[in-house]
Amino acid sequence: MAQEAIIERAKAHLLQNYRTQPVVIDRGLGTRVWDSDGKSYLDLLGGIATCAMGHCHPEVVKALKAQADKLWHISNVFYSQPQIDLAELLAAASGLERAFFCNSGAEANEALIKLARLHGVEKSGGEEGKCYKIICAKNAFHGRMFGGMSATWQSSCRRKSMTACARSMLPSSSASAIAWRSGRRGAG
Ligand SMILES: Cc1ncc(COP(=O)(O)O)c(C=O)c1O
Repeated sequence: MAQEAIIERAKAHLLQNYRTQPVVIDRGLGTRVWDSDGKSYLDLLGGIATCAMGHCHPEVVKALKAQADKLWHISNVFYSQPQIDLAELLAAASGLERAFFCNSGAEANEALIKLARLHGVEKSGGEEGKCYKIICAKNAFHGRMFGGMSATWQSSCRRKSMTACARSMLPSSSASAIAWRSGRRGAG
């Protein structure tokens, strides 16, 4: 299918929240990627520097296939040996004790904010709300979760309607209470 046609399908069914380039990347090998019309590009982006391993390295492909044949997602309520192997490697390489694994940069930043605040409570002798401020840099970007957005420089991320959820704690089973609070009293 021609790139324009694929892009039209994307526009119809993907939320248009990124400034996506009009190129459909179809495959990659090492430092090169190819679009769906067969044009080749040098990949200088590397997943915005977060996954700069190149494409389809045979050893990585082999490991992924072996894992796919063995076990898929098992949640974090169980231990899994490959995860521990990686944590040990990271600890040895970084000189730090433990790793926290999550799914995205945004989650990593949220975790950092929470850990920094817990550290603040500890530093102030267990007192809540004394050391809680996060220092942010001008022009910084920290992902699209509420914590990360509030620490991001762009004013569009810090609009009032984009601050963390207003709190209304209701019993989770109470559909009628939720309808009442959201102003839809009597809604089915
Ligand atoms: C500096 C920085 N922090 C956080 C993020 C968010 O990462 P993710 O898209 O994996 O949630 C990004 C993504 O572009 C980033 O560039």
